[in-house]
Amino acid sequence: SKYEANFHLPDEKGNFGTVTDKLNKKGAEQWELLQLKQAAQNLSTDEIYVKGSDKYEYVFDKETVIDFTPDNENVDPGANVSDDSAGKQDLELPITKMKPQLLEAIDKNQVLIVVGETGSGKTTQLPQYLVLDRNWKVACTQPRRVAATSVAKRVSEEMNVELGQEVGYTIRFDDKSNEQTTVLKYVTDGMLLREFLADSKLLKYDCIMIDEAHERTLSTDVLLGLLKELLKIRPLTGDKGNGDEQLRPLRLIISSATMNASKFSEFFDGARLFNVPGRRFPVDIHYTLQPEANYIQAVLTTIFQIHLSQPVPGDILVFLTGQDEIEYLNSILQDINCKLQDTNCIPMLITPIYGNLPQDQQAEIFKPTPATHRKVVLATNIAETSLTINGIKYVIDPGFVKIKTFIPQTGMSQLSTVPCSKASVDQRAGRAGRVGPGKCFRIFTKWSYEHELELLPQPEISRTNISSVILLLMSLGVKNLLDFPLLDRPSIPQLSKGLENLYLLGGLNSKGQITHLGYIMNDFPCEPNFLKVLYVAADKFGVLEPVLTIVAMLHETQALFSNEKNLDKASMFPNVVSDHMLLLNIYNAWKENNCSKSWCVVNKIQSKTMSRVENIRKQLWRYCKNRSEIMDLNNKHGNNTVGSSPISLESCIIKSFISGFPNNIAIIGRNGQYKQQNNSNISMVLHPTSLISCRMKTAGMKPYKIILYHQLIMTSKEFMRDCTPVYKEEWLKEMVPQFFVS
Ligand code: CDP
Ligand code: MG
Repeated sequence: SKYEANFHLPDEKGNFGTVTDKLNKKGAEQWELLQLKQAAQNLSTDEIYVKGSDKYEYVFDKETVIDFTPDNENVDPGANVSDDSAGKQDLELPITKMKPQLLEAIDKNQVLIVVGETGSGKTTQLPQYLVLDRNWKVACTQPRRVAATSVAKRVSEEMNVELGQEVGYTIRFDDKSNEQTTVLKYVTDGMLLREFLADSKLLKYDCIMIDEAHERTLSTDVLLGLLKELLKIRPLTGDKGNGDEQLRPLRLIISSATMNASKFSEFFDGARLFNVPGRRFPVDIHYTLQPEANYIQAVLTTIFQIHLSQPVPGDILVFLTGQDEIEYLNSILQDINCKLQDTNCIPMLITPIYGNLPQDQQAEIFKPTPATHRKVVLATNIAETSLTINGIKYVIDPGFVKIKTFIPQTGMSQLSTVPCSKASVDQRAGRAGRVGPGKCFRIFTKWSYEHELELLPQPEISRTNISSVILLLMSLGVKNLLDFPLLDRPSIPQLSKGLENLYLLGGLNSKGQITHLGYIMNDFPCEPNFLKVLYVAADKFGVLEPVLTIVAMLHETQALFSNEKNLDKASMFPNVVSDHMLLLNIYNAWKENNCSKSWCVVNKIQSKTMSRVENIRKQLWRYCKNRSEIMDLNNKHGNNTVGSSPISLESCIIKSFISGFPNNIAIIGRNGQYKQQNNSNISMVLHPTSLISCRMKTAGMKPYKIILYHQLIMTSKEFMRDCTPVYKEEWLKEMVPQFFVS
């Protein structure tokens, strides 16, 4: 029918009706419609399209409209504040009220599990009590780098001290703490794990707080196991045991969002649970009527449905799976925002937040939103529990998360986007109810929520490559890995593949004992595979420097290019086919151009990413220098090894990578698809962004028989990303004879 409008607006109750419906309703808000119309007219027809001025027909991206249905039966069971208190804002954090009881409980218990709603003050306040009221030295772990840095910054401001002095942080490749002065250190769980290597009794600290324990990262789980043992050696009582020196007592605080906290209590022999009653306003949950094929597009539409129909203040928080999605959506939103400038429409303040975001930009999400704006936060699941952003009223949740999964049968790890657990999406919804009643729009159906989602997220230890953990535990003297206390155990195939992997790399010998190389691997701040690559590059070929550059670059390929999808990579360096060599060439060219920003712009490379690469590279270089062994091996080749011939440099580089990543070799089959040599049934294809596939498209090149890839990404297919051809089959046997038997 002619007058049917297909843009849907929610009414006071949050039910979405059509604009026409709304027009016919008494007291329809004219300004809203006007705004809508004007906004729409100012946008290019690609995005929004208006037919006729008297009908408010409004189409976003030509066709898309998302229908939501409110969930009337099950309105946020977590809410515990009645609607009437919504007006009066209580500025005191929930934890502040509990301070005396909390400190008492901490004094009395060696292990205390603190459970509380996200945003109640566990991360920022609790460690301050320990430092200021008890005079303890404290380490507080975080699963995420961004959380560690941003919280440390916040707390140093609250305590009015310089960041890096009394309060500091340590994350991989970035240490802002001071051995002498730091009494409160926020540290990633992985980095605290490394501290065990230098000091297995953690004598520096009086109290360890394992924060965000519900995330169940691999490092957190292993830390809990190590701490369980350590607490026995550093008990609360003056009981000296039979040792001659008296060790200071050590306390452990585990803090967790509300999901599944009793598991921690059981693990620590019935340790006390301390509940911090939080405040939370009701959140109305809305589901889509049908599954959305393209959730990014659906998110975009939903943002505008909210933005154009809901008053400010009321910020929007969107959960996305990674930096690439965030950057993509960010650029589209910025673009539309510009076009909205001359309309009555309220401008949006679009703020991304993800792990790799530079620190100055991280601060943006915490700044209060000006009354004339609406903030739209595009976040990874870092905003699920680790960071609390004030002012969020609307949450948009596609219900996905990106995880790395290890396939023990093949030894391959793949990145894939998977549905979240119920616990996660409920947690996400709760983020809308911190300042007042909120709304959560789920880009999936109610049926899917009820029937398809797992109850809890899978702990990382049950789905990841545990090689580096095996190495760490063995070097800490854990004799029997199967006896080591863990909340959840890795499967036997995972364990045996992990051991096999270490044997392949030379970190373990055939008796299963840790080797000299194994100790170096363990000490190295990256995966053992990378150390193997560097070691071989130095020892066999004397090409440590270029390989180091590639290793550093490989840590940052996600955000290297400004617009990777539309990039003509093939023309950058005409003779290069290998992504690894491309990375090396990009780095070298950047250096030759004095690390200039304009060079980056011209070449569509993100200069911030290059600065991060430079930092990583410097630290890896320093690492190698400090362990003179690697340097000595490299230098024994002198200057006259391979430098003159680019072909032989490339072959040395590729051979080094083969030795470190034997599981990442793919061999072409008859159907043109790649498989691992041990003929697993997983077929892989080249990622369209890999230089080889760019060249195959343009130059009609024949496919390479053997490929070494760096990452496997599972989307519609198993895509190999960052690939290099292996030009000669015999390189495989030459580098990893134990694995590539003929
Ligand atoms: O750890 P938990 O989720 O219990 O709370 P928190 O992270 O300690 O946050 C307590 C309060 O501090 C929240 O209201 C946050 O919004 C605020 N906060 C902030 O404004 N800026 C930061 N960088 C960190 C926290
Ligand atoms: Mg916290």
